[in-house]
Amino acid sequence: HRTVALIVAAGRGERSGSALPKQFASVAGRPMVAHSHAALAGHAAVDAVVVVTGTDQFHAVQVAVGPVQCVAGGATRRQSVLAGLESIAAAGGADRVLIHDAARPFLPTQVIDRLLGALDSASGAVPVLAVADTVARCGGALGDVVPRDGLVRVQTPQAFIFSEILAAHRGWSGDAEPTDDAQMLRAAGGMVAPVTGDTMLEKVTYPDDFAAAEARAAARYR
Ligand code: CTP
Ligand code: MG
Repeated sequence: HRTVALIVAAGRGERSGSALPKQFASVAGRPMVAHSHAALAGHAAVDAVVVVTGTDQFHAVQVAVGPVQCVAGGATRRQSVLAGLESIAAAGGADRVLIHDAARPFLPTQVIDRLLGALDSASGAVPVLAVADTVARCGGALGDVVPRDGLVRVQTPQAFIFSEILAAHRGWSGDAEPTDDAQMLRAAGGMVAPVTGDTMLEKVTYPDDFAAAEARAAARYR
């Protein structure tokens, strides 16, 4: 099995309020992208790591994580992932790929183990967590409650058989931009297995999420 990890770090972090793109903001003493890079590069099953980012940010990535292959991203997350997958394909391909958001800095090694294990019997695998809050439609006034039984929150990293996720990305023709890769594999007919996610993997999206990430790191790594 040749397993390549793809970290997408080409976003602008507009909702985060961060002065620099959030993936380069410091959390627990290091730029966010450095944490997940260390977890992926240090995993025994991962053979190579590729970081997708803006061409003007290749240097910032190298400063943050050390020597690593950088690929130019696109205008949307989907386009950034596709650019990364095409670069892996051009370099000889892979058997499996882990696709991860740089905005999720803390990546427990057990989650990687669960994801790769699930690929023995599925084309894709994603970490999921149950929904704790009441979920309801809302547009002006509060609308109907959506029964949360059977709903999950889907995290990254997401693991795939490389040839299948590449084909799903190449063949994508949806009109709404997908927010993750599992929905693309499903649209192409692939089966995605859920594995247990981890609260350490929460994404940093809004300004308050930086403090929450610091607190999680302090609690886990104390
Ligand atoms: N991403 C990317 N290329 C894009 C957009 C997003 O590589 N064109 C990456 C981000 O860097 C991030 C991950 O996809 O690691 C998840 O996206 P999101 O949380 O939406 O990050 P941003 O797009 O940077 O933030 P915002 O939407 O608030 O601008
Ligand atoms: Mg975004």
